Amino acid sequence: MNKNPDKKQLADLRVSYTMASLGIHDTDPDPHIQFQHWLEEALAARLNEPNAMSLATVSERGQPSIRSVLLKGFSEDGFIFYTNYESRKSTEISDNPHVGLSFLWKELERQVLICGTASRLTREASEIYFKSRPPGHQIAAWTSLQSNEIPNRQWMLERESELTREFSETEIPLPDFWGGFIVKPHEIEFWQGRENRLHDRIMYRRCEQTWDRVRLSP
Ligand SMILES: Cc1cc2nc3c(=O)[nH]c(=O)nc-3n(C[C@H](O)[C@H](O)[C@H](O)COP(=O)(O)O)c2cc1C
Repeated sequence: MNKNPDKKQLADLRVSYTMASLGIHDTDPDPHIQFQHWLEEALAARLNEPNAMSLATVSERGQPSIRSVLLKGFSEDGFIFYTNYESRKSTEISDNPHVGLSFLWKELERQVLICGTASRLTREASEIYFKSRPPGHQIAAWTSLQSNEIPNRQWMLERESELTREFSETEIPLPDFWGGFIVKPHEIEFWQGRENRLHDRIMYRRCEQTWDRVRLSP
């Protein structure tokens, strides 16, 4: 018997997925084109930050960790995000480049899961993106000692003011410790929620220069 009403509330919380279906022949043979279709639909549905994705990395000791990052571009070469190269995620990627990405577009009852290998973008490519950022975000890249412990918020704001003064007369350069990663996928799964938990899952697996597509059991 469950006497805790909160726990009961949680146990009874369930949503039926009835919006759409996904058959193998509904999907494009190229998973990047399929991703493009779904991303366009997420954008058209005006979801809040449809480019937000969870990034899973694994430490040298085998401990997984996860956080959100923003997708800033994708192509047949991979999925791009930007970050601090001295952060926890970047240290873990240096030790172990195998990563996972997950997009949850729950208003569309959809999920996309990606397994791949991360590598750094070239400095030139990172520079192009860095220059497109608003100045406040460029200063933030300099200010943040991402993933490190800091004394308090005031300490960080003073550092931000100092750096803003330092760069007031010049273009803000790309820090050496900041830039992009590209995740080259070897598996991409498209998940569409269906009624009675019998969801549709279409998995693409890289097969040399092409992709195989299979249906997975939910
Ligand atoms: C919606 C959302 C988007 C984010 N996008 C980024 C991003 O693109 N790059 C980034 O470094 N951190 C981003 N963050 C912050 C990260 O989730 C995380 O806190 C930070 O990168 C430090 O992670 P780490 O200590 O595991 O390296 C985002 C957070 C949220 C909630």
